[in-house]
Amino acid sequence: MNELLAQQKMNKTKISTPIQGCMTWGKWGANFATKAYQQQIEVCLDLGVSTFDHADIYGGYTTEAEFGKALAEMNLQRDSFQLISKCGIQMENFRENATKHYQYDAAYILKSAEQSLQNLQTDYLDVFLLHRPSPLMQVTEIQKAVAQLLQQGKIKGFGVSNFNIQQMALLQKVVSIDYNQIQIALTYSDSLTNGLLDYMQTHQIQPMAWNPLGSYFKSITPKLQKSVQKMATKYKATEDQILLAWLHKHPSQIIPVMGTTNSNRVQSAKESTKIQLELQDWFVLWEAARGKQVD
Ligand SMILES: NC(=O)c1ccc[n+]([C@@H]2O[C@H](COP(=O)([O-])OP(=O)(O)OC[C@H]3O[C@@H](n4cnc5c(N)ncnc54)[C@H](OP(=O)(O)O)[C@@H]3O)[C@@H](O)[C@H]2O)c1
Repeated sequence: MNELLAQQKMNKTKISTPIQGCMTWGKWGANFATKAYQQQIEVCLDLGVSTFDHADIYGGYTTEAEFGKALAEMNLQRDSFQLISKCGIQMENFRENATKHYQYDAAYILKSAEQSLQNLQTDYLDVFLLHRPSPLMQVTEIQKAVAQLLQQGKIKGFGVSNFNIQQMALLQKVVSIDYNQIQIALTYSDSLTNGLLDYMQTHQIQPMAWNPLGSYFKSITPKLQKSVQKMATKYKATEDQILLAWLHKHPSQIIPVMGTTNSNRVQSAKESTKIQLELQDWFVLWEAARGKQVD
């Protein structure tokens, strides 16, 4: 474990802030053609958003391969971008699955990683994540697969997604966890108070925030909107930038995983890293989102 740990720390590649999520680039959203994938990848890279988040299941197991085809045609240097993918969710109506379930035996994890490499037309993943915790996961099986992938250089970093403290602690007995990708937003801030982010800071597990804008643009409350708009005026920023700046202030170094397919919003997200919210402004926003002051 120690030797592997040292190798994992040495090989770990730098991830951009923010990360660009690709869940809705394909059949689950924008339905990009190859050219549109390439344009969007180019926009991201030009802005320094060089890390792309995938999962085997996106687009019903199709988005990785579409992205991989577009990427391969661009002939980019492999170290000019980073790729994240995930495994473990077995979807209903695919692969003869009778129902949706999770699978984490060593053979399946290895097969899934190989498939992602093939789809993305690359030799390695910068980060490989277990998509969701399973009540049936056996950590020795996970350890076997992850150790092999790290040793073979097929993954440079390893992490989990949607894991709670106990699930991370269980897995950490056998492997080192670099990242946990969880839902964090101003309107979804449980991890700030339930010990999750504190645990991750203690164990140097960096949070990636999926859905970093939360429910803000879907079901806004007038009180929250008023506060966010007031801050947007004060900091000469847009509302989405204020939501992201709120995440950036947290000491656990949260990396937002953006879901947008709009290039202007990628730029806006990148620029949000420069906004430093004042202490009380951070609490004003949190209060507006929670509907109450801190105790
Ligand atoms: N690990 C997991 O379990 C998990 C789960 C879900 C997602 N993810 C990852 O996280 C990524 C992001 O998730 P997400 O899509 O929920 O993130 P998000 O960035 O919080 O939300 C993106 C949505 O917000 C909209 N939006 C952004 N700015 C807006 C504005 N100013 N006004 C109105 N609408 C705006 C976008 O529309 P436009 O496209 O028009 O900008 C898009 O529909 C995914 O792509 C995926 O990679 C991981």
